[in-house]
Amino acid sequence: MAAALRLLERVRYRPPGRGCGDAAGWGQRERSYWRALRRRVLGPPVPPFASPCQVGAPVLRATAATVGPERLGGPELRELAAALAAGLRRGPCLGLSAPQLGVPLRVFATELTPARCEQYPPPLRRAHRIEPFQLRLLVNPVLRVLDSRLVTGPEGCASLHGFSAYVPRHWAVHVSGVDECGKPVSWEATGWAARIVQHEIDHLDGILYIDRMDPRTFTNVSWMELMD
Ligand code: CO
Repeated sequence: MAAALRLLERVRYRPPGRGCGDAAGWGQRERSYWRALRRRVLGPPVPPFASPCQVGAPVLRATAATVGPERLGGPELRELAAALAAGLRRGPCLGLSAPQLGVPLRVFATELTPARCEQYPPPLRRAHRIEPFQLRLLVNPVLRVLDSRLVTGPEGCASLHGFSAYVPRHWAVHVSGVDECGKPVSWEATGWAARIVQHEIDHLDGILYIDRMDPRTFTNVSWMELMD
């Protein structure tokens, strides 16, 4: 009990700044009492994390490492594959890379379900060829551009929660690699699928969509609700 009280005394709570020009996060940040207590009891989270790292986490800016052949089919990669698939569905998001779950390896998963496709307005679906595809997991993916025409479309990212922007991407790509068990994967992706693949492979090189976006289209997706 005394130790817990000493801990509470040490951890002062300072709410993050919210004013204009107040760069919350600059300087030292401290955890709230309850967060500090929870972390002390449960310990720090261990990758693969249950929820994606947010922009600012160094792992999102690192170049992910190639997965060695000896790790294919092993328990570590199987656990990562399961965590990526679960993260995709929990999001829900269309693609998720290993670095986003704190694992700096060249692995990503992507899926576009028919139900998710239905949520897009038909004109956007037609313009960007938004069509369903099954869950795919790629280890050590290699990208080849098949159609270098650039198409600008809206993008979001689980690591930039609550924001979106328009990003130019090549229209068609080929991606090859292996799955978590070492089985070869070869995929020609067009339109929306090509956009997702390019976004995810960027994550493996520490690149986020904000590095490629048209900055004037950067949007807080809740801007209307926040004004109510
Ligand atoms: Co992303």
